[in-house]
Amino acid sequence: MNRSIKKKMESSNTIPVYGKGKIGIIGSGLIGRSWTLIFISAGYNVTIFDIEQSQLSGALVDIEKQLAELQKSGLLRGALTPEQQRALVSVTSDMKEAITGALHIQECVPENEDLKRKVFSEMEQYADDSTVLCSSTSCIVPSKFTDHLKRRSQCIVAHPVNPPYYCPLVEIIPSPWTEPSVVSRTRTLLEGVGQVPVTVKKEIDGFALNRLQYAIINEAWRLVADGVMSAEDVDKVFTAGLGMRYAFCGPFEVIHLNAEGTASYLERYGSTIQRVSSTFGPSPTFTGPAFDTIVQDNDANYPLDKLQEIRQWRDTRLVALAKLKKDLESQKPL
Ligand SMILES: NC(=O)c1ccc[n+]([C@@H]2O[C@H](COP(=O)([O-])OP(=O)(O)OC[C@H]3O[C@@H](n4cnc5c(N)ncnc54)[C@H](O)[C@@H]3O)[C@@H](O)[C@H]2O)c1
Ligand SMILES: *[C@@H]1O[C@H](CO)[C@@H](O)[C@H](O)[C@H]1NC(C)=O
Repeated sequence: MNRSIKKKMESSNTIPVYGKGKIGIIGSGLIGRSWTLIFISAGYNVTIFDIEQSQLSGALVDIEKQLAELQKSGLLRGALTPEQQRALVSVTSDMKEAITGALHIQECVPENEDLKRKVFSEMEQYADDSTVLCSSTSCIVPSKFTDHLKRRSQCIVAHPVNPPYYCPLVEIIPSPWTEPSVVSRTRTLLEGVGQVPVTVKKEIDGFALNRLQYAIINEAWRLVADGVMSAEDVDKVFTAGLGMRYAFCGPFEVIHLNAEGTASYLERYGSTIQRVSSTFGPSPTFTGPAFDTIVQDNDANYPLDKLQEIRQWRDTRLVALAKLKKDLESQKPL
């Protein structure tokens, strides 16, 4: 970039500018495309690699379409126009080209441990000492696919939540040998592009999001299996009850606000939580009569031939919620 343009951009007060740095995306499916949209919104140059040429061309078409839709709905992130953002994207069928000179590589290949091992071995060959090698894996701990690498201290997991453009949480999981500076660099990068990183401080199966989600599924299942509630009503407990608060306050904030602070809440309700929790049964096996009941109820409530429509409706609601949360952000009295 020529000097006077650079100077002009630095002095302008629109923060995202070109030339912020290069990000390499490995795998151009659903998640690779989402990461691309997030990084370009903040002004990073993104080079996408895939082994399938058709996936790469599909990704470019899809990204352009999504940029146009985001612009139309007023949800485009950052200060750059769709055209400016599009200009930051390039694709390649040469992995080396995606990695050379990049400050961060986001791996988004299918969820398979052997494949991740292989892809990380290849990725590290083109990386230099300052490249962060990051996987989007949903549930494989990083030590499982980075133990054999020379650059294993530069490897980490950043697990996004679908759809990442509207669900900003990213779980960061270092392996036992990940350099602490790689954790802080990854967090800083993700915060800088508008995501919300949290650190899973040690490797654990399911990370945090799925552990919490599975705890809920287990108890939801037991309530139906024990004849306490219908599947439909369990879903209402969330959509009209718990979920209303959880979109804004986490469980710790909820208890803090539901009494005069956490100590007061636990003094009042701690023994109740313990009593009720002691009646939770073992983890369900997801078989038996409850299986038929839940499958039949869900099929009736959410017909299988309408899934695409229901998904679209859900995504529209998520977009509206994301917008609402953004509008309300500045009003939180903290
Ligand atoms: N889909 C989700 O909801 C979700 C959410 C969070 C995390 N993830 C994780 O993100 C990763 C990617 O998932 P996805 O849903 O985008 O998958 P996807 O199947 O949509 O895309 C995978 C892409 O990787 C490409 N690919 C396959 N082998 C490759 C290789 N050797 N080198 C380069 N590219 C290769 C494929 O051609 C394809 O374009 C997985 O680890 C998944 O667990 C997915
Ligand atoms: C980043 O993208 C912009 C816009 O296309 C381009 O002008 C610039 O040269 C790119 N920088 C790098 C390092 O690729």
